[in-house]
Amino acid sequence: MNRSRILGAGHYVPERIVTNQELSEMMNTNDEWIVERTGIHERRWFTPGVDTVNNMAAKASRMAMERAGIEPSEVDFIVFATITSDYFLPGNGVLLQRELGLANIGALDVKNACSGFLYALTVADQFIKTGMYRKILVVGAEIQSSALDKSDEGRSSAVIFADGAGAVILGAVGQSEPGILSSHLHSDGAFAEELYCIAPSSSGEVRLSQEMIDRGDFFVKMNGNTVFKHAIVRFMEVINEALNHNGYTKDEIDLLVPHQANLRISQYVQQKLELPDEKVFNNIMYLGNTTAGTIPIALSQAWEQGRLKKGDLVCLAAFGSGFAWASVLLRW
Ligand code: COA
Repeated sequence: MNRSRILGAGHYVPERIVTNQELSEMMNTNDEWIVERTGIHERRWFTPGVDTVNNMAAKASRMAMERAGIEPSEVDFIVFATITSDYFLPGNGVLLQRELGLANIGALDVKNACSGFLYALTVADQFIKTGMYRKILVVGAEIQSSALDKSDEGRSSAVIFADGAGAVILGAVGQSEPGILSSHLHSDGAFAEELYCIAPSSSGEVRLSQEMIDRGDFFVKMNGNTVFKHAIVRFMEVINEALNHNGYTKDEIDLLVPHQANLRISQYVQQKLELPDEKVFNNIMYLGNTTAGTIPIALSQAWEQGRLKKGDLVCLAAFGSGFAWASVLLRW
């Protein structure tokens, strides 16, 4: 059986920087509150007419392919994680296939929110292990800012979420090579309505009515407190599950790349695992929470900064809407 390995990672974030100061002009919030509760100083929001989920994903993908040293023609399959697809139908995988000119390869969309990229990576890993495909483009990309309620009512989520794209090339290597060691996927739908977005919805008479617009059904709704409490428990569980499964201890981790939900969540996990700062990668301070985008963006930046070296033990972990949570343990 093959093993799969990340051969290259790339990312793209929109040019528009939105500071906490700018947010405080839109809603009743302030820099001090946002920094203290979330660790975020600024984030990137898309520019309508310029950025799309598809074109950001394409930029990230081209960078990933270049760094992996592969031609687009070598990509066998696409797995695209997003909850903010450009169209309601079709998904973004096929748009990326078209944009990159990839000859009629299959494209799959994954809609698991903040854990979406780890679910996508795990699906790709299975295709490679079985030998069905040899090189898979795995993407996480989102435009969240157009689903944010920028009034006082929506301020707890409006200050957190942001836009951006990341991508990796997952390739087949021999069993003795470094690569993905294991994946652990979980969900608990009992909490679906703690972080969700109702519209457009298929189960109404029309998918988007004036009434739904007036009610703000197309805004992301989050019960931040509940999300926070569950996140810190599930992050710890799923990281320990990955370590135990492979017989490693927490001090053997070279780099933890947590989904960038909230800096306080990452710091809690770091503290519990007693990891020094250099072993935890965070970029939420200047990029916010880009949902499925955060982990591949972080991997791309960590690699650029020389924080990922061949053979490093890397733990990826995520928690979010669903609730769904996941971890992937790998040797870089
Ligand atoms: N600016 C200023 N005040 C705000 C605010 C904002 N942006 N958002 C909420 N508040 C207020 C609340 O209205 C509340 O005021 P009150 O005490 O007068 O009622 C107060 O701040 C505390 O609100 P609360 O929701 O209890 O704050 P919190 O400490 O839980 O922080 C979050 C809110 C959203 C930052 C926090 O719950 C969180 O980070 N949750 C996890 C979210 C997350 O990770 N989501 C992504 C999952 S992938």
